[in-house]
Amino acid sequence: MDPTLDPDTRADLMVHEMTLDEKVQLVHGAGWGVLRAGAPVAPGHNGGAGFVPGIPRLHLPDLNLADSAVGVRMAALQGRYATLLPSVIGMSASWDPDAACLYGSVLGRALRAQGYNMSIGGGVDLIREPRNGRNFEYASEDPILAGTMVGQLVRGVQSNRVMGDIKHYAVNDQETGRNILSAVLDRRALRETDLLAFQIAIALAHPAGVMCAYNRIDGDYACENDYTLDQVLKHDWGFQGFVLSDWGGTHSTVKAALAGLDMDQPGDDNFFSEPLKQAVLDGKVPQARLDDMVHRIVRGMFANGVIDHPPVRSVVDPFRGRDDAQKIEEESIVLLQNTGGILPLAAAEIESIAVIGGHADVGVLSGGGSAQVDAPGGNAIDPKPGTSPWGKAIYFPSAPLRYIREQAAAGTKITYDAGTDPAQAAKTAASAQIAIVFVTQWMTEGKDATTLGLPDKQDDLVAAVAAVNPNTIIVLENGGPVDMPWAPHVKGIVESWYPGIGGGKAIANILFGRVNPSGKLPVTFPASDDQLPRPRVTGLTERTGNNGADAGGARERVRNFDVDYNIEGMAVGYRWFQEKNRKPLFPFGFGLSYTRFAYSNLKVDVDAPNHAMSVSFELRNTGARAGDEIAEVYVTLPASAGEPFRKLAGWKRVSLAAGASQTVEVALDPLYLSIYSPDTDTWSRPAGDFLIEVGGSSAELPLHSTVQLAAQ
Ligand code: BGC
Repeated sequence: MDPTLDPDTRADLMVHEMTLDEKVQLVHGAGWGVLRAGAPVAPGHNGGAGFVPGIPRLHLPDLNLADSAVGVRMAALQGRYATLLPSVIGMSASWDPDAACLYGSVLGRALRAQGYNMSIGGGVDLIREPRNGRNFEYASEDPILAGTMVGQLVRGVQSNRVMGDIKHYAVNDQETGRNILSAVLDRRALRETDLLAFQIAIALAHPAGVMCAYNRIDGDYACENDYTLDQVLKHDWGFQGFVLSDWGGTHSTVKAALAGLDMDQPGDDNFFSEPLKQAVLDGKVPQARLDDMVHRIVRGMFANGVIDHPPVRSVVDPFRGRDDAQKIEEESIVLLQNTGGILPLAAAEIESIAVIGGHADVGVLSGGGSAQVDAPGGNAIDPKPGTSPWGKAIYFPSAPLRYIREQAAAGTKITYDAGTDPAQAAKTAASAQIAIVFVTQWMTEGKDATTLGLPDKQDDLVAAVAAVNPNTIIVLENGGPVDMPWAPHVKGIVESWYPGIGGGKAIANILFGRVNPSGKLPVTFPASDDQLPRPRVTGLTERTGNNGADAGGARERVRNFDVDYNIEGMAVGYRWFQEKNRKPLFPFGFGLSYTRFAYSNLKVDVDAPNHAMSVSFELRNTGARAGDEIAEVYVTLPASAGEPFRKLAGWKRVSLAAGASQTVEVALDPLYLSIYSPDTDTWSRPAGDFLIEVGGSSAELPLHSTVQLAAQ
C-alpha cells in the first residue's frame, strides 16, 4: 500500500501475497448479476454490467464495471441520474480531441459519483459496415481519426481515477452473426486499418482494459486469438493492461489463457474459475501466466488510483453534464446541404414554420443495446417511471420544438405535425413558409440495418413535404450513414447523429445560427447500398428476419460464416470510393459552414523533428462570420506501396474570426506514412513520391504537393 512505489512493483508485491484461490477469484466476473433476470447479485455489486469481488485482507477493493459508451447504463435501477452524451460517431464528427477528452471526463465523473471504478466503453471498431447497428458507439471508418478520438475519450475517463477500457478487439464490424462469424482480412490490411485504430487509441490512453470481441478473426475467436492478443496487443504494442472478454465471449480455458485472455466476463461459463485452477495445477496453464493475468489487473487498479483514491459517491451535476453534452453536440452537428443559404434561418423574416416528425415535440432519439442510457422521467415518448424499456427507441427530454419556439421571432406561427401520415404532414407543410422535418433511424447492438434507407417509410414523408414546400430542411437523428433519395428536392440537411441531452437546444442553435456549424463527416455517406463492397450485410438472410439478425438467435439459425473484408481490404470507406471511382452522397470529411475558408501556400517540411513530416499552409476565413474549420491533410503513398488511394494523415480544427487568417501546421506521424509488412513484421516508409493534399473534405483538396522521400 506504499503509494511511492510504482504500480508494477505494487502489483508484484500484492500478487506475491495471494493464494491460488484468490488469484483465480480475480480473473473472472461474479456472473450476469443485474443483466439477467433472476441471476444472483453478489454483495458489493454496484448494479453495473460487471463485478469482480476484491480481497479485503489485502486492501484490494471490488471491481465494479459499468457500460458507459455514451452515458452510464442502468442508472435508473439504482435511482441515479446519468447524462446522455451525443453518440460517439457524433463526437468524432467534431474532429476535436479536446471535445473527445471532455466527453470521457463527463463519463468518468458520473461513474465515480455512482461508485464505479471501471468503465466499459471506448468502442473503436472501424466503420467498415455502414449498416452496423453499433456504429453510433464507434468513431470512424478512418483508423487515425477513430483511434485518436477514442484514445482521447478514454484519457478523459481515466483522468477521473476510473479505469478505462477499449473495445471490441477486433473487427467486430457488424452485429449480424457476431457470435459466430469469422472476420477474414489479410494481415497487412488488418494491421493498417482495424488494428491501427486500436493501436493509436491504446498508445494515447493506456487503458486499464481491452475487451476482446465476440467474433472470430481469421478462424479463431477474438478472445482466444493468439495473434491479435498475445503477438500484437501484448508483444508488439507492449500493452500493460488486461484483456477482458466481451460478455459471454470466452470459449475455452487453456486456449484462451495461453492466447492472452486475462479476465472472463461475466464469468458464469466457468472457463476461468475451477477449470482454470485445475489447468494451473495440472501444468496446462503455467503459474506464471496466471500471475501475469492478476498482475495486469492489479497494476491497472494501482495505476489509475482506484486503490489509493476509491470512488466517492456524490450527486453528479446534471446541469454541467447537459452543458458539456450540448457543447460537444454543437461541434458535432454536420451541415450537409444548404441550398440558397436557407440556413441559418433569418428569424425576423419568418412568419411560419411547420415542424414535422421525429417526436421533435418531446425529445431526441438515443441508441439501444448495452449503450442505452435511462432517460430522466422515462422515455419521453411514453413516460413511465423506472428503467427505460429494453429493445425500444428511447427519446430524451430535450425537445427541438421547444428551442425552435424560443429562437423564432415573437409572433412566428409554429405548428407541429407528428409526420405519421405523409398526406397530413404535407398539408401542414404547404401552409408554412419553412418546413423542418425530423427523421430518425433507431439503431441498437444486436441488429444491423437491412439497408441504408431510413426506416418506417420516412423517405415518403420527406418527399411529400418537399413536394409542397420549397423551403424544406431535414434534421437527421441517426446511428450512421443513411441514403437520401430526396436530397435534391430539399434545401437544408442537418446531420445531428443521436444528439444527447443537450441536443434539442444544440440543433436549434445551429438552425438559427447562434452556433456556426463546424462538424465534418467521420464516415462516407454512400448514395446507395450497391456502391458498397458488400451490397448486403453478410449473413443477413431471410431467415434472420427483416430487421436484421438477432445476435444470440443467429447462433441457432445460421451456421458459422465468413465475412470477407478482403474485398476492400485496406480500402475502407472513402478509400474504396476513390479506388472504385464511385461518387458517394456525401464524402468523408465533408461538412459546410455559414462562413467560407480559403486554403493557400502549402509547404512541406520533410525534416521535422522525430522523423515526422510537417505540413503548413495558410487558412483564411473569407466569409462574414466567425467559424471553425477542420483542415484535413491526406497522403497518397508511392505506387510501390500498392495503396492507390489517399489516406488521412492529420488534421487541425482551427477557429477564425471573419476575415482572419492563420498559418496552420500539422505534423504527420511517421507511422501514418508507413506500411506494414507481414513477412518481416515491421512498419516502414516506402521510398518514392508522396502526394500531400490539403483541404476541407476528402473530395475537395485545393492544395497539393509531391515530395520525394527515401525509405525509412
Ligand atoms: C456488449 C459489450 C458490453 C457487454 C456488457 C455485450 O453484449 O457487446 O459492449 O460491454 O455486453 O454489457
